[in-house]
Amino acid sequence: MRTNLLVANWKMYKTPAQAAEFVREFLPKISNKSDEIVICPPAISIPATVTALEGSRLGAGAQNLHWEKEGAFTGEISAPMIVAAGCSHVIIGHSERRQYFGETDTTVNKKLRAALDVGLTPIVCVGELLEEREAGITDDVLRRQCSIAFREISGEQARKLTIAYEPVWAIGTGRTATPQIAAEAHATIRAEVAKALGDELAQKLCMLYGGSVKPENIVELMAEEEINGALVGGASLDPKSFAAIVNYRSAKA
Ligand code: PGA
Repeated sequence: MRTNLLVANWKMYKTPAQAAEFVREFLPKISNKSDEIVICPPAISIPATVTALEGSRLGAGAQNLHWEKEGAFTGEISAPMIVAAGCSHVIIGHSERRQYFGETDTTVNKKLRAALDVGLTPIVCVGELLEEREAGITDDVLRRQCSIAFREISGEQARKLTIAYEPVWAIGTGRTATPQIAAEAHATIRAEVAKALGDELAQKLCMLYGGSVKPENIVELMAEEEINGALVGGASLDPKSFAAIVNYRSAKA
């Protein structure tokens, strides 16, 4: 059985106390013993989440990072700080960061290199806008996002790379890509990874789907060979609903 990865992206939700409360409620509900589960709270709630997760097999992650180790960058946090806070993962290039905070393919590349340098598992988000899908240029967009993101990175460095395909039109909209759309996009991304980082890495690459994942569609999505996990926003905020998602294997039985 393959190890898949299920990630909660809490975005700008949950204070430290609310994060700890979530973990207390969530842990006893998990029946999935084989897949990796990671919670990404807002930076201010990372310490409370890490403390609450102690003794469990779950990991914590950050939602963003700066590529410098330290410096005069008001409001930013660096990769070594994220590691020091007890995180194993970091989300990079989420479409909300691209849309509202000026993130570009180039900054994604810098952040990816910084994360790999300190041994974090980067979850690099790529995905097309609705206009891009309707214009038939989804593959071009995914290829551009990937090829710039992987500049100056070797296959050896990128062993921990994880990619989340998140079609922007499916995020927070209730519209989910069909498993087939997701699988096709994953195949395009895998080919791009093979070109930039080598075949071996591409074959082993863990690729997540994100965009309106919920208990009602997780089984169907995870049934796709190309989908190795999920990045979950809205439905990860409630312990019951995120537990129903991570327990998808028992839902199938
Ligand atoms: P959503 O968000 O599950 O609320 O659509 C996913 C994401 O933005 O990572």
